[in-house]
Amino acid sequence: MENHIQTMADHWIIRPLICILIVMATQVHGSDWTTITFLPSAISKGAVCLDGSPPAYYFRKGFGDGIDNWVIFLEGGGWCASNKGCLDRTNMSTGSTKLKEKRHYFKDILSSNHTINPNFYNWNRVYVGYCDGSSYTGDVEENTYPTRRGAKIFDVVMEDMLAQGMKNAKNAILSGGSAGAWGAILHCDGFRKLIPKASRVKCISDSGFFIHAKNLYGAKKREEYFADLIAYHRSNKFLPASCTSKMNASLCLFPENIIKDIKTPIFFLESAFDYYQLKEHYFSDDPTWKICVDNLKVCTPTQLQIMKDYRATFIKELQGVKSSSTGIFVHSCYRHGHLHEREGWDKSPKLGNKTVAEAISDWYFDRSSFQEIDTQNELPRNCAFLS
Ligand SMILES: *[C@@H]1O[C@H](CO)[C@@H](O)[C@H](O)[C@H]1NC(C)=O
Ligand SMILES: *[C@@H]1O[C@H](CO)[C@@H](O)[C@H](O)[C@H]1NC(C)=O
Ligand SMILES: *[C@@H]1O[C@H](CO)[C@@H](O)[C@H](O)[C@H]1NC(C)=O
Ligand SMILES: *[C@@H]1O[C@H](CO)[C@@H](O)[C@H](O)[C@H]1NC(C)=O
Repeated sequence: MENHIQTMADHWIIRPLICILIVMATQVHGSDWTTITFLPSAISKGAVCLDGSPPAYYFRKGFGDGIDNWVIFLEGGGWCASNKGCLDRTNMSTGSTKLKEKRHYFKDILSSNHTINPNFYNWNRVYVGYCDGSSYTGDVEENTYPTRRGAKIFDVVMEDMLAQGMKNAKNAILSGGSAGAWGAILHCDGFRKLIPKASRVKCISDSGFFIHAKNLYGAKKREEYFADLIAYHRSNKFLPASCTSKMNASLCLFPENIIKDIKTPIFFLESAFDYYQLKEHYFSDDPTWKICVDNLKVCTPTQLQIMKDYRATFIKELQGVKSSSTGIFVHSCYRHGHLHEREGWDKSPKLGNKTVAEAISDWYFDRSSFQEIDTQNELPRNCAFLS
């Protein structure tokens, strides 16, 4: 029987099949699949998702010499700024933890694989589920439906982590993607204050630099949208007075007006042609625009100029707010979101001879500063970066 199996295994069809099965088994049972944890005790504190469900996260304990180090990643997924938009979300995973995946695969900066993630693989790693529609800033006290309590969700998840050992953190990173990146930026200094004894606390924005660009095609202006968002979620309570005392709070959701006041170092991992901002945000009302975004060959000269203008505005705003401690990795590939995507970390294209993983790690540990912007490409590229 054993011989027979051996012969079968050697067969040219069976062998690849066995390989595939082994790969599938590793994926399913591999150590990086992480089970969801709900926080039902948060409900009595009023910290709930848009649909009233409890906050949730995926957590892996640190080990070895990573036991007192923490990396938090805030999930993103756009915003909702009205009853209509937020009600729609109560039936989606961006508004309800009931609909989140039961297990999440930890990749890139959250990976436990030393080869992929040599600097953070054994840290305590947390992936926080996004379900508030406000980048973790909302704070409406009344019992409304949908509930708008994003800032409270952030607070109770952090309280829980502090109790699980984060109060002893030596090194810590607050990161996030897209709307989650914006949450990480806005909470960055507050996060540092939670762990005053930690020696190194920094934040990472993965595609969270939402620029203050003109909207050429008549859709609601970003400022007006942000004004609606702030009013609906009452995020103004949360926004720093250093900004809101100087200008209309709706302008305090633009990085250009707020980053300078943040004292904790931030790394910006961004595309100069952010796919989501270009495609969905600013120019979405022109039907020919979407076709152009996906195929530069059909763009009109005006549309190509808009892309160049977009990039110029983005770079100008970023240069305007950076300090010597800021990390910058700005490439020209169409992309929105890097961490947790294939090829967005250890296999990414390089800038300054470094992958994203190397650039962020060296910057975090102060081995070297990193401020690289791809200046070669004036137009977006469909590079391998887009997985
Ligand atoms: C959500 O889904 C439920 C059940 O499918 C449906 O009855 C309800 O109308 C939906 N609500 C919204 C706001 O779409
Ligand atoms: C870690 O990642 C490397 C590179 O992708 C891979 O070859 C190796 O099998 C992985 N190790 C584990 C334990 O999954
Ligand atoms: C703030 O800006 C928004 C959007 O431009 C506007 O609708 C609102 O009236 C402004 N608020 C104040 C107090 O000026
Ligand atoms: C780029 O980095 C590699 C190692 O990562 C090094 O061997 C090589 O010399 C570097 N090249 C330049 C031009 O700095």
